[in-house]
Amino acid sequence: MNELAIFPLTDEHKMIQNAARDFAQKEIAPIAAEFDESGEFPYKTIKKMGGMGFMGIEVPEAYGGAGMDSLAYVLALEEICKVDASHGVIMSVNNSLYCHGIMKFGSEEQKQSFVTPVASGQAIGAYSLTESMSGSDAGTMKTRAVREGDVYIINGRKSWVTSGPIAEYIVLFAMTDPEKGSKGVSAFLIDSKQPGLIRGKKEPKLGIRASATSELIFEDFRCPVENRLGKEGEGFKIAMTVLDAGRIGIATQALGIAEAAYEAARQYAGEREAFGQKIGQFQGTGFKIADMKTRIEASRLLIYNAAMAKEKSKESGGRYSLEAAMAKLFASETAMFVTHQAVQIHGGMGYSKELPLERYFRDAKITEIYEGTSEIQRLVISRNELGLK
Ligand code: CAA
Repeated sequence: MNELAIFPLTDEHKMIQNAARDFAQKEIAPIAAEFDESGEFPYKTIKKMGGMGFMGIEVPEAYGGAGMDSLAYVLALEEICKVDASHGVIMSVNNSLYCHGIMKFGSEEQKQSFVTPVASGQAIGAYSLTESMSGSDAGTMKTRAVREGDVYIINGRKSWVTSGPIAEYIVLFAMTDPEKGSKGVSAFLIDSKQPGLIRGKKEPKLGIRASATSELIFEDFRCPVENRLGKEGEGFKIAMTVLDAGRIGIATQALGIAEAAYEAARQYAGEREAFGQKIGQFQGTGFKIADMKTRIEASRLLIYNAAMAKEKSKESGGRYSLEAAMAKLFASETAMFVTHQAVQIHGGMGYSKELPLERYFRDAKITEIYEGTSEIQRLVISRNELGLK
């Protein structure tokens, strides 16, 4: 079930959902396990996804995108993530952490130069905020950008950058005025062809192994002033605004993983026999199925609602931090719950690499960590509810 009574899908929504489902089944499903095992970046399928318009779904056609809405984006992403979370995060970062921020805060020239190649799938985009000692407390970064005439000289070391080893373009956050703390952060658009950017070590990861993650080291990187995104000192707010969009993407990734694990568990529970009956006929298994299904559908409601809130904010300019945080918190914890139960229902086969269950289980964990841990989502939600921000 992918349609909820309160979110009737338009023909356009159904079209992109079907296109993403077909693509994922035909092109990604046959290679997902192999790329997970090797940890290689799936260049070919990512290029093809670009050709399908999946890399800039909400970007207007004039800038190389598909010109669709926020719900269309999550519907397509959900289908990709049901098959492979690695392809999913590459798509999510391109769409939300990279294109969305430049479309919202960028100048006309910046949109043309930096969005068009990424939204059209010709190049990969990344978002670089985190440092080894500045993760959840993002306003404490040490990377410095010092203005000298018409350029900023950037020095520092960023970490945990999704698509870091291969991204041609990067939205980077650096301190222009350290005395001001988070109000001294500025955002920059980095063209990786320029000298001074060194790709650090690629992280060996538990899950989403086909997506490449690395450090980025800046050594006297010269960024022209015209490539600053927004005003000096606006970087932290830009980073946070963009993460609100990103969190809907990660929530969707979690939903896709959970749905795939659930579907396998549901089928297995209806086929596998033990003690003279199908294991699904044991209440212990049946109740697991009930809880998995209910949490998945609740996640979907939160995610589609957050997507609609994001769509509305394009007109109103309002924030949807609460909706995005609730969707990410609930969907990522659901993905952990569901993949755990799905492995358990499969018993030994759930633990075997012959089935994708163990991959879903490994892939689920990161959704509780990146783009804001579950603890940070709880912080955002509680501050909002208690009127503390
Ligand atoms: N939208 C717009 N503005 C926002 C905002 C948002 N969502 N959140 C905060 N702000 C504004 C505030 O209004 C405030 O502005 P004023 O001072 O003018 O009022 C300013 O930003 C500072 O806000 P806070 O005082 O709330 O900041 P804080 O230091 O307490 O931090 C936080 C808040 C929620 C903890 C934030 O730091 C946070 O979200 N941390 C997690 C960072 C994160 O998600 N990192 C993941 C990086 S990406 C990644 O994972 C890798 C990848 O490649 C996928």
